[in-house]
Amino acid sequence: EAIEKGGYEHFMLKEIFEQPRAIGDCMRGRLSANEGRLVLGGIREYANKLVNAERIIIVACGTSWHSGLVAEYFFEEFCRIPVEVEYASEFRYRNPVINEGDVVFAISQSGETADTLAAIELAKSKGAIIFGVCNVVGSSISRISHEGAYTHAGPEIGVASTKAFTAQLTVLNMIALRVAHQKGTITERRYHELLVELENIPAKVEKALKLDDQIKAISERFQNARNFIYLGRGYNFPVALEGALKLKEISYIHAEGYPAAEMKHGPIALIDEEMPVVFIATRDSSYDKVVSNIQEVKARKGKVIAVVTEGDALIPQMAEFVIEVPKTDEALMPMVSVIPLQLLSYHIAVMRGCNVDQPRNLAKSVTVE
Ligand code: AGP
Repeated sequence: EAIEKGGYEHFMLKEIFEQPRAIGDCMRGRLSANEGRLVLGGIREYANKLVNAERIIIVACGTSWHSGLVAEYFFEEFCRIPVEVEYASEFRYRNPVINEGDVVFAISQSGETADTLAAIELAKSKGAIIFGVCNVVGSSISRISHEGAYTHAGPEIGVASTKAFTAQLTVLNMIALRVAHQKGTITERRYHELLVELENIPAKVEKALKLDDQIKAISERFQNARNFIYLGRGYNFPVALEGALKLKEISYIHAEGYPAAEMKHGPIALIDEEMPVVFIATRDSSYDKVVSNIQEVKARKGKVIAVVTEGDALIPQMAEFVIEVPKTDEALMPMVSVIPLQLLSYHIAVMRGCNVDQPRNLAKSVTVE
């Protein structure tokens, strides 16, 4: 086992640090910005069905559901296709409406999650075309999907999903760009910019991983916290949900992820001088709004930990702790901004003496309802 961990103390840490390679592997042979090439071999026969889709329904659970939420933004922004992101467990019991022009995406690391499998079977029985985004080659979901794309992140052993998440975002982004290009809903310029920027992501994730020591120090300060709130907007809203899920599953600290603007409709009541609030506040189209949300938390004496874009001059004047990540396109930022949150949950869990690779009550793949 020590050999399999490759010198890391836990599988989770190894997998966090593998992300630059995993994202690179996911793009290998598929994307070349130089040649303007974006080819997804697993999406052929039904590619036109996807390009002409009237609606995309995404079904998934847990972290994979968070990837689906980011993908909703991709498909809507780039392809102008309406998207619904569904918890597989809810979708399957709801007699959902599936129309002729709908396509379904199932996202799953393991490809064995019972609820996701059942949701696909239901959608298939209603005539839907299913695209699978799985990590495990030959898994049940990959086999029953009509077509799809593997994430090629390599085996993920830690129960807390890390590299599968960033690889899912990579694949989903490539699919959305490929569809948008064919549909003509993205300008050539933006398409090319995003291909170049996608290729730069592994190096940016590598840089974000260098924050490890700084994040360890922040973790020391908050290891005994009883609650955490994670807030983000736009592309960073699903990142807030993912940060909170990571923390609760491995450290057993209660954590809530929320869209930052929704805070004033309830969770703001929780904020006092004891409450750590993690803002994912990178420079994007909602930046100014997020700055106002930070001020609202400060006014109530919350302790702000902010993930910001390198060089941000404003937020460091407000936040107790600032974590600077490299700049990238806002659509790709989740792949970078999630890194410090994975590290934060990892270090806090280790400091609390938790079993990070096999947290209590959890299984790597949930093959029961
Ligand atoms: C993630 O850290 C979790 N352990 C869990 O939410 C997981 O993402 C979920 O069970 C879905 O699994 P899948 O991707 O293998 O379908």
